[in-house]
Amino acid sequence: MAEIVSIVGRRVWDSRARPTVEVDVALADGARGRAIAPAGASMGSGEAADLRDGGSAFGGMDVRKALANVAGPIASTLKGMDAADQAAIDATLGRVDGTKQFAQLGGNAVVATSLAILRASAASAGKPLYAYLAGDAPVRIPVPEIQILGGGAHAGRRVDIQDFLVVCPSASSFVEALDRTAEVYRAAGALLRSNGKLHGVADEGGYWPAFSSNEEALDLLLRAIEAAGYVPGEDVHIALDVAASDFGKNGRYKLGLEGRELDRDGMAEMLVGWLDRYPILSIEDPFGEDDPEGFRAFAKAVGTRVQIVGDDLLVTDGERIRAAARDGLANCALVKPNQIGTVTGTKAAIEAARATGMSSIVSARSGETEDTAIVDLAVGWDAGQFKVGSIARGERTAKWNEMLRVEEALGAAAPYAGWGAFPVKKKGS
Ligand code: PGA
Ligand code: ZN
Repeated sequence: MAEIVSIVGRRVWDSRARPTVEVDVALADGARGRAIAPAGASMGSGEAADLRDGGSAFGGMDVRKALANVAGPIASTLKGMDAADQAAIDATLGRVDGTKQFAQLGGNAVVATSLAILRASAASAGKPLYAYLAGDAPVRIPVPEIQILGGGAHAGRRVDIQDFLVVCPSASSFVEALDRTAEVYRAAGALLRSNGKLHGVADEGGYWPAFSSNEEALDLLLRAIEAAGYVPGEDVHIALDVAASDFGKNGRYKLGLEGRELDRDGMAEMLVGWLDRYPILSIEDPFGEDDPEGFRAFAKAVGTRVQIVGDDLLVTDGERIRAAARDGLANCALVKPNQIGTVTGTKAAIEAARATGMSSIVSARSGETEDTAIVDLAVGWDAGQFKVGSIARGERTAKWNEMLRVEEALGAAAPYAGWGAFPVKKKGS
C-alpha cells in the first residue's frame, strides 16, 4: 500500500491560452504523479462539467474555484487513501461531489486528480504507466487518426465539418503511419499555398479551412494523398469528425457555409454520397447527440462499410455505450477521460466497447497541453485507435512522439493494431 500524502493543484495554461488545472500527487513511498486537465470546445451535453469562475478574467474561464476544491475537499478526503486502489479513489470523488457530471468539484479538478494519482501509482510500482495498466494482458500500438484540415468549432465554423483526418491501417507500424501522414500534411500545405488558401492552422494544428464547401475540403484531402504518392483507400484512408451536434437540432442540420438546411434523411444522403466518392473509413458524430434515430438509420444502411463513432453521443459513458450497441447506433466509441471525469470511468467505457463488439478510439481534446497520459491509456488498455489532432503544434506532437517512444520500447511485444482495430473489414478481404 502506498498512501497518498499530498495533493497540490496549480493553474497552468492550455493550447488556447485558457487556464486549466494541474495536479501533483505524492505518496508515502516517495512516488509522484502529475496530470493536467484538457478542455473541449465542441462538447456533448452529457459530459463531466468543468468548473470555471465566470466573471471577466480570461473570458470567465479561470479555474480558481476548481483549484480551491483540489486544495480543500479533494485533498482532505483522499489523503491517507491507498493510491493503488483507483476504483475506491474515483468512487470517493464521485461521492464527495454528489452529482453525475462533477458539477460541484469540477470535472477539470477531478480528472487531473484521478490521472495524477494513477501516475503516482505506476511510479510507485516502478513501471511505465502503459505497462502498469496492461498488467499481463497483451497490447497493441494503436492506429492514429490524424487531422489534416481543421473546421467547425475549431476554425470559426469556416466549414461545417470539424475534422478532416487521415488514417493508415495498412501501415506496418505506427512509425510508418506517421511518416505517411506527415507527407500528406506537407502535400496539403503545398496545394493550399499554390491555391492562395494557406492561412495558418486551426485549434488542433490542421490547416485553416478557407474553402467554399465541405466537398472542396474533401477534394483537397484526396489530392494531397495522391500528391504525396499514396493510393487513397489503400495506403491512406480518410476519417471525418462531423461533430454534427454543433450544427444540428432535432434532426435538422444547418450547413452554414452553403446556407442549406438538411433534414435527417438529407444529411444521411449527403454523407452516403461522400462515402461513395471518397475513401472514408471512419465517420464520427455524423448526427447530433439528440438524434439517435439519425444514427440508427445510418448505422443500418452503412454500418458494415464504415466505422461510425459516437463522441457527443456516448461521452465516454459505459452505460451509454452499452445502450448504443443494443440499439445499433454506432460501432465505435470515442474515449476522452475528461468526458467521464475519472480513470475508472474511462476504463469502464473501453471495457463496454470491447464487451459489445465496438471499436474504441482514445482521444485528446481541442484544448490540450504537454500531458501525455492518454498515450499510456490507449496502449495499456489496448484501445486500438488514437486521435489527438494534427501532426503540428507541440501539444499534439507531445502525444505522437511519446507513442513513438512506446512503440520502440515495446518492440515485437506490441504489434501495430492495423485493420484489426476497426469494426469493418478491408475492402476485398
Ligand atoms: P473537442 O473536439 O475537444 O472540442 O470536443 C474533439 C472532438 O470532437 O473529437
Ligand atoms: Zn468529436
